[in-house]
Amino acid sequence: MLLHCVACDAKYAQDPMLYACPAKGCDSPLEVLYEPAEFAKATSFEGRGVWRYRPLLPVDRAVTLGEGGTGLHPCERLGRELGIPRLYVKNEGENPTGSFKDRGMTVGIALARSAGSRAVACASTGNTSASMAAYAARAGLTALVLLPAGKVALGKLSQAIAHGARIAQVEGNFDDAMRLVVELSSKERSVYLLNSLNPYRLEGQKTLAFEVCEALGDAPDALVLPVGNAGNISAIWKGFNEWKAIGRARRLPRMLAAQAEKSAPLVAHLRDRSKPCRVENPETLATAIRIGQPVNWRKAVAAVLDSGGEAGTVTDDEILAAQRLLARTEGIFVEPASAAPIAWLLKNRPKDLETVVAVTTGHGLKDPDAMAKAPVTMERVKPELAAIRRLLDS
Ligand code: F0G
Repeated sequence: MLLHCVACDAKYAQDPMLYACPAKGCDSPLEVLYEPAEFAKATSFEGRGVWRYRPLLPVDRAVTLGEGGTGLHPCERLGRELGIPRLYVKNEGENPTGSFKDRGMTVGIALARSAGSRAVACASTGNTSASMAAYAARAGLTALVLLPAGKVALGKLSQAIAHGARIAQVEGNFDDAMRLVVELSSKERSVYLLNSLNPYRLEGQKTLAFEVCEALGDAPDALVLPVGNAGNISAIWKGFNEWKAIGRARRLPRMLAAQAEKSAPLVAHLRDRSKPCRVENPETLATAIRIGQPVNWRKAVAAVLDSGGEAGTVTDDEILAAQRLLARTEGIFVEPASAAPIAWLLKNRPKDLETVVAVTTGHGLKDPDAMAKAPVTMERVKPELAAIRRLLDS
């Protein structure tokens, strides 16, 4: 197992504390690479969830809450509406803390332990902090979370509080918090960084691709997901490639990235590669993906281009409409960011795709305020049957 720099191609021996390429002037994210002999040994997968894929993970089981193994739900009614013959929703809200982050944290916390760290830290728009706080509690580690002040949904914040994290409300956005936590963890070696800059965390997240391929018998035509810091798209694309490399999938999917209109650095960069992958003052009500400087942009660009995929934007209104449509047609309630892929499909109505997997990354209860703003009248009625019957007939 090696660490590989996605920018300058340098290779390093495995080191749990190495998050960015140490080559002079590089500082780019690294990825975990397996030797052919390690792939050759990955022949048997047992059990359920993330740890089923232990032969393709960088560490043995350490701290688990039963992550992974989420439902891949066929969505016929919504598929008909979108003109997609086989639409599936991979519902990551079914993870223990309600988001896909748990797949990565179970692995990342194990690495933190192996590195001898007593404290773990992250910058977060909410879900990473909720997940990290839970797994840190489970492992008996101190959790430090840096959040953009006033911009974290209530469900996520209450999770970080419940699990006993030390919480800094940074007067700035996610990108400011990210810069600070990277600086802190590079100066304080005792603080282990668990953002998606950490290549080991992403190894856990790649297992979503394995689960999808196992359930469908091969990769789908396309996989569509919301993109913020761009760790998940990178991890899932790596997963599809590895599953193919060990001979278990015949093909690779197109990777479709959905971003919020005013927080879409990846979309802007793919349109004009001479511009940096960066947006100042990102805004969206899908606060999970309110990110202007994605640390994994280079990996995400490769995922989209190498897969023949694309990246596009959706507006906040389109996100809210998609959130309600998914909840009403299929019974799946997701947070606003997680509705972005459904909004993307509604907007683009792709004609050439038969089997599509939409990844819904976080549970709807994470952000109860978003639905509380929906235009619904809840009638106050007298405690009489007649009034209630009227509602049924309306
Ligand atoms: N969806 C949800 C619900 C998220 O919480 C995030 C990221 C994403 C999508 C985007 O994933 O960053 O890997 O591209 N949330 C991070 C956090 C940034 O701090 O919880 P990404």
